[in-house]
Amino acid sequence: MIKENSPGSIGSSHVDQPFYLAVGDEVGLFEAAYADRTPVLLKGPTGTGKTRFLEYMASRLSNNEAGEKVSLTTVSCQEDLSASDLLGRFILEKDGTRWVDGPLTHTVRNGGICYLDEVVEARKDVMVVVHSLTDHRRFLPIAKLDTLIEAHPSFLLVVSYNPGYQTSIKDLKHSTRQRFVAIEFSYPTVELESEILIYEGGAEPAVAERLSALAANLRNLNNDYLIEGPSTRLLVYASRLIARGVSPQRACIAAIADVVTDDSVSREAIVEVITAYFGDSDT
Ligand SMILES: Nc1ncnc2c1ncn2[C@@H]1O[C@H](COP(=O)(O)OP(=O)(O)OP(=O)(O)O)[C@@H](O)[C@H]1O
Ligand SMILES: [Mg+2]
Repeated sequence: MIKENSPGSIGSSHVDQPFYLAVGDEVGLFEAAYADRTPVLLKGPTGTGKTRFLEYMASRLSNNEAGEKVSLTTVSCQEDLSASDLLGRFILEKDGTRWVDGPLTHTVRNGGICYLDEVVEARKDVMVVVHSLTDHRRFLPIAKLDTLIEAHPSFLLVVSYNPGYQTSIKDLKHSTRQRFVAIEFSYPTVELESEILIYEGGAEPAVAERLSALAANLRNLNNDYLIEGPSTRLLVYASRLIARGVSPQRACIAAIADVVTDDSVSREAIVEVITAYFGDSDT
């Protein structure tokens, strides 16, 4: 799936910045990397704010003195995504063929951030394309056009990668990963996560805090029960269900227990923890 969103397009008003609460030093680090156009690798579990962070950074970097917008183009990589999908292709028209830029070529030409989400999932030929863009050369070879496109000065390549997926045997090769600086994303503290749930999920402060404490507990569960703990995204979903009148316990089962596992023993263990946090009250 490919998505281009101009900065500031999230939220109701154009001047609105996407809501992002910094968990560590990621904002300063990204700004420093962007200043030299050093490619960035975002690492971390699902739902920890990687996409939201980039939306926020594109918007933040767009507030520059020159008034130049930094666009964000996101490509969700899947196993059938090939280099041609990123580069572009000739399409047949009545009177011949016409070249249409793919999302990567478009961003390399016109500038902005190109975000390859879950890059390890893509086909191997994608990495070849990435290599010449992520070292001093900063160009994109397009064999079908017999040309090299030099990257626009504002172009930055960002990729993400979730090393935690135990189902995936795919890994980033060192010749690829050593072309990036990495920013690691992890779960926020209970205090920060509660703020996110209040803002994003409309949670009451007491509910938000309890949800986040519950999640922290589940994230510490033994790997036998859970491969990956509940994300902030799931807590936002639970908060929204609760804000709509669903009981907190039911909301947590629907948004957490039944999502993070299909195994009945693990589910039972998780429901037990949920009951310990929310079983007694209508909070
Ligand atoms: N630090 C944060 N500040 C604000 N919102 C956050 C933050 N972290 C997570 N969220 C919330 O969690 C949701 C999921 O975040 P996001 O989609 O950015 O995760 P992700 O890391 O890109 O996940 P995936 O790896 O599955 O793509 C966001 O829509 C937002 O509501
Ligand atoms: Mg994402």
